[in-house]
Amino acid sequence: MDTVHFTAIESPRLVLRRFRQDDAKAFYLYRSDERVYRYQGEGWENMTPEKALCFVTEQSKAEPGIPGTWFQIAVEEKASRSLIGDCGVYTQPGGRQATVGITISPACQRQGFALETLECLLAYLFDTLGMEKVETQADARNAASIGLLEKAGFLRGAYLPRNAFIRGEWTDDVCFALPRGEFRRKNETSGR
Ligand SMILES: CC(C)(COP(=O)(O)OP(=O)(O)OC[C@H]1O[C@@H](n2cnc3c(N)ncnc32)[C@H](O)[C@@H]1OP(=O)(O)O)[C@@H](O)C(=O)NCCC(=O)NCCS
Repeated sequence: MDTVHFTAIESPRLVLRRFRQDDAKAFYLYRSDERVYRYQGEGWENMTPEKALCFVTEQSKAEPGIPGTWFQIAVEEKASRSLIGDCGVYTQPGGRQATVGITISPACQRQGFALETLECLLAYLFDTLGMEKVETQADARNAASIGLLEKAGFLRGAYLPRNAFIRGEWTDDVCFALPRGEFRRKNETSGR
C-alpha cells in the first residue's frame, strides 16, 4: 500500500488530527492519570512532561498505513478546541489489517466521544486506507473498553487467560475483530 499523507478527519463534534507540539501538556495530564493507563500496556504509567513532548513531536511527523508501525492521532473537541484524547493505529505487516486503541481524558468520558472517535476512525481505515480487518484486545476487566467495542460492532473472539504480565500482575485479554464485510453490513443496517 502507498503511504497516505494524513491531515485530519472529522465527525460532528470532533476533529481527529495530527499531533502538534502544543498538545504535550494536555496529553501528559490525561496520559499520566492512573484511571487512563490502568488497563493499558507496560510503559504508559511512566509518562513525564518530557516524554509527552517527545511522543507528540515524533507522532507529528509520522504517517498512517506503514506496515509494522504505530500512528497516533489527536482527538480534538470542536466546541472547546481542546485535546480530549487520542487514538492509535498499528498497521500489521502486510498493510491490510490494523490494530486500534482509544483513550479519552477522564473529564470527557461517558459523553459518547470514544464511540464517535472509533466510528470516524473505522471509516477512514476501511474506506481510505483499504483495511480488510480492524482488531484489538481488551483487558478482560476493562468494562468501558469492552462495552465500547461491542457498541461499535466488533465481534468478540478468543479469551486469552494470563496473556500479559503488566505492572506486576498477569492479565487476561479478550480479542475483538471487525472484518470489512461486518463493518459494511452494520453501516447499511444503520442507513449510513
Ligand atoms: C474506554 C474509553 C475510551 C471509553 O470512552 P468514553 O468516551 O467514556 O466512551 P463513550 O462515552 O463513547 O461510550 C461508548 C460506550 O462504551 C461503553 N462504556 C463506556 N464507558 C463505560 C463504563 N465506564 N462502563 C461500562 N461501559 C462503558 C458503553 O457501552 C457506552 O455506551 P453507552 O454510553 O450508550 O452506555 C475510556 O473509558 C478510556 O479512555 N479509558 C482509559 C483508556 C482505555 O482503557 N482505553 C481502552 C484500551 S486502549
